[in-house]
Amino acid sequence: MAPGILQAKALTKSFKGFYAVDGVTLNVEEGSIHALIGANGAGKTTCFNLLSKFLEPTSGSIVFKGKDITRSKPDRVARLGLVRSFQISAVFGGLSVMENVSLALQRGRGESFDFWRSPRALAHQRPRAEELLESVGLSAYKETPAAELPYGRKRALELATTLALDPEVMLLDEPTAGMATEDVGRIARLIQTVAKGRTVVMVEHNLGVVSELCDRITVLARGQILVEGDYETVSRDERVIESYIGGGGHE
Ligand SMILES: Nc1ncnc2c1ncn2[C@@H]1O[C@H](COP(=O)(O)OP(=O)(O)O)[C@@H](O)[C@H]1O
Ligand SMILES: [Mg+2]
Repeated sequence: MAPGILQAKALTKSFKGFYAVDGVTLNVEEGSIHALIGANGAGKTTCFNLLSKFLEPTSGSIVFKGKDITRSKPDRVARLGLVRSFQISAVFGGLSVMENVSLALQRGRGESFDFWRSPRALAHQRPRAEELLESVGLSAYKETPAAELPYGRKRALELATTLALDPEVMLLDEPTAGMATEDVGRIARLIQTVAKGRTVVMVEHNLGVVSELCDRITVLARGQILVEGDYETVSRDERVIESYIGGGGHE
C-alpha cells in the first residue's frame, strides 16, 4: 500500500499499565474517508486523541505528510493541516453563527487576537463566511446566536468553523452522536460534501453512516485492530458481527 497522508505505527497508550490502545498501525490514504469503529471501550476515543495529538502515546509513532509528528503539539499539527473538529474552533454561544465562522476564518489565518476581534477584520471575512455557511446549510441562521441553534445545526456550525481552517485532514469525533434521524442524514451528506478534496478520519458508531460514507474502516477491539477493509469486508467478518451484535453491544 502506498504511504498514506497520515500513518500510525504500533501506536500504544497505556494508563497505569492498562493498554487502551495497543500496537495500532494505520495507513490513512489521502482523499479517503476512514472510519474507526468498535464496541464501547475498544479504544476509539483514545486512538483519536493520539492522532490529534491531544494525548501523548506511550510508544509508537505518527507521521503526517511524511513528517514525524509523534511529539508535536496539537496547535502545531493543526497549522500543518491536521485539524480536529472543535479544536481551535470552539463555538461561542453568545456570538451569532456568522460571527463564529468569521472568527474561525480570522484565527485560521493566524492573525493576532486583537486583530481578529476587530469588527473591521470580521467584516473582511464575510464573503468567505457566507460561502461556508451556505456549504453547511446554515444560511438561514446567520444572525442566530450559536447557543440558540438546534443540536444538529450546532454540529453543522462546528463543522463550518473547522472547515474555516481549511484542513487537509479533518478528524471528526462521532459527528452524528446524539442526533435525531433526520439530522444524521443531513450531517452525513454534509460530511460527504466537505470531504471532497480532503481526507477525513472519523470515529462513528452509526453503521449506516459508516457504510454510506467511508472508504476504509478500521475495527478496534480491546485496543487492537480486529479487522480492516471496506464496509463489505468488515461487515462480513464474524468477529465484527459478534462484537457488535453478540458481544457487549455497541454504543
Ligand atoms: N484517562 C484514562 N485513564 C484510564 N483509563 C482510560 C482513560 N481513557 C480511557 N481509558 C480506558 O481505555 C479503554 C478505551 O477507552 P476509549 O478509548 O474511551 O474507548 P471507546 O472510545 O472505544 O469507547 C476503556 O477501558 C477506558 O476505560
Ligand atoms: Mg469513545
